[in-house]
Amino acid sequence: MVSRVIPVDPFDLVIFGGTGDLARRKILPGLYRRFLAGQMPDEARIIGAARSEMDDDAYRKFVSDAIEEFIPKSKHDKAQIKEFLARLSYVATDAQAEGGWETLKGLMRDGVVRAFYFSVGPSLFGALAEKLNEYGIADADSRIVVEKPFGRDLASARALNKTLAEHFDETQIYRIDHYLGKETVQNLMAVRFANSLFEPLWNAQHVDHVQITVAETVGVGGRGGYYDKSGAMRDMVQNHMMQLLCLIAMEPPYKFEPDAVRDEKLKVIRALSPVPHEDIVRGQYRGRPAAQGVKAEPSYLDDVEDPHSRTESYIALKVGIANWRWQGVPFYLRTGKKLRARTSEIAIIFKEPPHSIFGEEDEWRENVLAIRLQPDEGMTLSVMIKEPGPGGMRLTEVPLDMTFADALGEDGTDIPDAYERLIMDVIRGNQTLFMRGDEVEAAWAWTDPIIEGWEERGDRPRGYDPGSSGPEDALMLLHRDGRRWRELRG
Ligand code: BG6
Repeated sequence: MVSRVIPVDPFDLVIFGGTGDLARRKILPGLYRRFLAGQMPDEARIIGAARSEMDDDAYRKFVSDAIEEFIPKSKHDKAQIKEFLARLSYVATDAQAEGGWETLKGLMRDGVVRAFYFSVGPSLFGALAEKLNEYGIADADSRIVVEKPFGRDLASARALNKTLAEHFDETQIYRIDHYLGKETVQNLMAVRFANSLFEPLWNAQHVDHVQITVAETVGVGGRGGYYDKSGAMRDMVQNHMMQLLCLIAMEPPYKFEPDAVRDEKLKVIRALSPVPHEDIVRGQYRGRPAAQGVKAEPSYLDDVEDPHSRTESYIALKVGIANWRWQGVPFYLRTGKKLRARTSEIAIIFKEPPHSIFGEEDEWRENVLAIRLQPDEGMTLSVMIKEPGPGGMRLTEVPLDMTFADALGEDGTDIPDAYERLIMDVIRGNQTLFMRGDEVEAAWAWTDPIIEGWEERGDRPRGYDPGSSGPEDALMLLHRDGRRWRELRG
């Protein structure tokens, strides 16, 4: 299968925070990969902008180091890298000071798409937006890209939306949730809406429950400062997991276009029921002393500044959606750091057949459609069949497995990173995979009372061992409903 790469329109892309971690790890290597794929037209230019003083050559060196570090060796082609670097330049600017803005304006060309990536903290969004207008750097067709965290509660998200709206129209604002750029997340929509097989079963009549898991093996490491003010609920649930839930639960949009899709997602968020405290389990990873041949593991409290922090590095919740389609179907969400395996999946667990003709002793298993985001992206549908052999009618469960890398050959192994796809969508002017302002606000409106609840009660997160599958209480969340979590497998 040969994938079609259609070059985007010529553009000037300015990356504010161009020397930052996200630019180094994701944005710049991603742009290089799009260049290699032939998606970047000759007239495309990338301008790094940050406070440090450096010239174009020093920035090109910074970018070439990032490519070296984050792109596999097989894709290091000296001539190609050189050609890519020739499109880069650098301007020293400070959102809160005057220098550099005229220079930046001078670099902008007419007749090409202008995009501004705000890869900086949200406290600078307003100042940057203002400068772009004040100096006439942005035009009516320009796009701005903003990163999460988009606020830390409803009030701050509203304030951010208001500030951006003073300078840009909603059609110019691209709020990134990188989960929406993941191949499998988009496949979720393809599976649901390009096949007639699943949709008739996609409701409370046939689905017993849904599990959404995003498990990581890493701890908060060097990000302790940010993370401790955030926690798993704000860092993962309010955005990434909410988006996954929306794509599973939403009604079919009338068209695959930005507002049609986002309207349907918004309806799901607004239909989310409040979550009572007994349906929430929070955890914090413990440390582990060094043992023979095994390094010591720092605890969460070692990784952050506050030795009494009550921030959660793990959360599990039982979420209900109050609408006709999902009445009574629990959506169990869990995410955490320092868990047994790095795995992200969505599992739709179907109901048992109404009556078993094979007798009581057969070990019945429900049909499960598991959609794996990582590691090996793909889908598995577990079905019951007869165990081979003459031993009578014994049943066994087998997976119908579609790992994209196998099913799609080479195309399946060279899946673009989420950031690559999303940046190209910005240039194309396609907002389908970006969050609209009202969507983000609705997500906070649901999240706020949950967080306020545990803050008012002064709840402490439960400890869990590194490499485990989370706190014991999270198992109980399902056990008490007669269900169990799917195994965490990497
Ligand atoms: C980020 C969170 O948005 O997503 C991180 O801030 C988390 O804490 C990361 O590790 C997970 O992304 P991915 O793509 O590695 O699953």
